[in-house]
Formats: sequence, structure tokens, C-alpha cells
Amino acid sequence: MKTITCIEDLRVLHQRRVPRMFYDYAEAGSWTESTFRRNQEAFAEMKLRQRVAKDISTRSVAGSMLGELQRMPLAIAPTGLTGMQYANGEILAAQAAEEFGVPFTLSTMSICSLEDVAAHTQKPFWFQLYVMKDRQFIAALIERAKAVGCSALVLTLDLQIIGQRHKDLKKQMTAPPRLTLKNLFNMASKPRWCAAMLATRRHSFGNIIGHAKGVENLTSLSEWSAQQLDPSLSWDDVAWVQKQWGGKLILKGIMDAEDAAIAASMGVDAIIVSNHGGRQLDGAPASLDVLPQIVELVNGACEVWLDGGIRSGQDVFKAKALGADATLIGKAFLNGLGARGKAGVTQCLEIIEKELDLTMAFCGKTDLREVGAEVIYTKP
Ligand code: GLV
Repeated sequence: MKTITCIEDLRVLHQRRVPRMFYDYAEAGSWTESTFRRNQEAFAEMKLRQRVAKDISTRSVAGSMLGELQRMPLAIAPTGLTGMQYANGEILAAQAAEEFGVPFTLSTMSICSLEDVAAHTQKPFWFQLYVMKDRQFIAALIERAKAVGCSALVLTLDLQIIGQRHKDLKKQMTAPPRLTLKNLFNMASKPRWCAAMLATRRHSFGNIIGHAKGVENLTSLSEWSAQQLDPSLSWDDVAWVQKQWGGKLILKGIMDAEDAAIAASMGVDAIIVSNHGGRQLDGAPASLDVLPQIVELVNGACEVWLDGGIRSGQDVFKAKALGADATLIGKAFLNGLGARGKAGVTQCLEIIEKELDLTMAFCGKTDLREVGAEVIYTKP
């Protein structure tokens, strides 16, 4: 196996080892994928000031999220169907995050259930919620998250309807996969993935099957979202969730300063500037493009985190320089998971930490908490 030194190496291995339909689900954006690409381009366009002859012998990339110190200011983002990238994927990623020392967020649309992840981890994790039409189910889901000790709720606001990802429709992406001849051939060429999948019983949406009324043997993601996602979601519903939950609340999917102002006025703990990895409104700017104006407007009323396009520690540093209190990774950790399971997630976090530390050092800084706009290069 080629030596892995960066997230791109993990991505290549992920692509090689995981059936096409699941790799494509993870790596896709909606429609033309212009926002998906823009998320990374915005980082690439940003340049940093290289500084020299400063004492950089002692350094720290630690940062806090929700008032708690983390090994670095980065959390694992909620991603759907993670347990399809690698058998028991959510449990493995949660364990890797916990051992490394960063928060893990479990998606509503996970394969391993809340209870299952809690049973296989030591520390509290975060739970991400989609508001569905069946409010009784949502209230029960919130109670389940409380019962297993989740320490924060991440409420996603940008998926009232689902963006069209051509690849998913063309591959008829389902969980468990539909056993068409084409899918069977593709899966047969991924023996590692197949062996691990055959050895687990976790093959479908663990938080939903058997819990939501009328959803007993749901297989299709689009079927699920058409039936369950609630397009009528409003700020009143956000207030309802806030009350039901009663704990730390994070709103995900904010891309507009007006929305950020409403969110901040509700007394939430953090907002996540995110375009859902370019998977929803294709044509939206990069998360990084809108970050500075949102940071300015929120003005410390809550934490502002950035999600979208982060594929290196240098990207984390750049987000910090533009005012993000912290960051999240989705596709990068899925690349690690799909490539090498738990060891791949750990490796992804180690790669990011190392790049973050080196970037900070080259910019003449020794404490990430003190990094701001002064490290950004602007053409004279
Ligand atoms: C769900 O969160 C998705 O982006 O598919």
C-alpha cells in the first residue's frame, strides 16, 4: 500500500475500497457541483503570510468548542449512512474521535443507532437532528438523545427538502443496497468492504427503523426524505426543539447574515456556517465566502463554526484566521473511514493536526487561539 500522507491519499483509497454508490454518495454535490467545488476553491485562493525568526519552539493547536477545551477546534460533522462506508462506521468514527480528543456528531440518518453508539463509547457525543413531519417521533428521538447522554444537539436547518444529486439517482442509492446485477458486480470487487458488512447486522437507518410509525423496512433515502422531511420547518419549530431539548443547541446550515442574526437572537450556543457540503443549493457561495460577514454580524453572541471544504489542517487554520471559532469535517473523515476504518479516521485527524501545527508555525504563531486576520496575505 502506498504511504498515506494527506487526505487526498485517503480519498483515493476510499474510492478504491468502497462500492461505487456509497463512495459517490459521500463525494457528491448537487446539480453541477459548483458549490461543492467552490467550498475547496475558496480555501485554495486564500494565501497566508510566511513569517520568520520568531520563537516557535512551543506550540498549541488546542481550541474550545461550547466552552470545552478540545485537542484542536474541530468536530466530526454529522454524515448520513456512515455505516455504509465501512461496517459499524459510526461506532468506529465515534471511538476514533473520542480517543483522539475531538467531538463526534451522530446523524439522524446514521446506520448505527444512538443507543448502539452510546454502548460502544465512553464519553458523551453530539446528536444531529432533522425535523420530520412526525413530531411525536422527533420528541421521542430528542428524549432518546438525552437518555444516552448526548451533550449537545445539532439541529440541521438546510434540509427541509433534499438537493438533487445526480449520482445518487443514477445509482439508485439505497441502504441496504439494492442487489441489482451491476451493484453485485461492483460490491464483489470490494472484498474487504463485503466481508466486514457481512459480519455486521447494522445495515439500515438505526435511529428510524422500528421507531418511526409506518417506517418498518425503509430502504431508499429519497423515499425516506420525501415521506419524512418537513418542508414546513420554521423558526417556531426551532424554538420548539430548543425547549424540548433544553441543553446546548447548535444550528447547522446558516449561510446568510439575516438568518445568522435570527439564530443568534434565539440564544443558541453555536451556529454552523454550512452549505451542506455543496449538496443542497448548488449556486450558493462557499461557506468560507460568507464566514466573515456572519462572524461580524453575530459579534460574539454565540460561537460561529465553519463546515464545508476542509481537507487539510491548513484549511482549519484559514477558517480560524477568518474568524471561525471552530470547524467541522465531513468528507475528509469519511475518506479515512472508507479507506481504513477506525485507523483511517484516526489518521485523518492526525494528518489535519500536523498540517495545522506546521501552518501555524510557518506563520510565526504558537497558539491557535490567538490567530486572527493578521496571518492573511493581501496583495499590496
Ligand atoms: C444528508 O444529510 C445528505 O446530505 O445526504
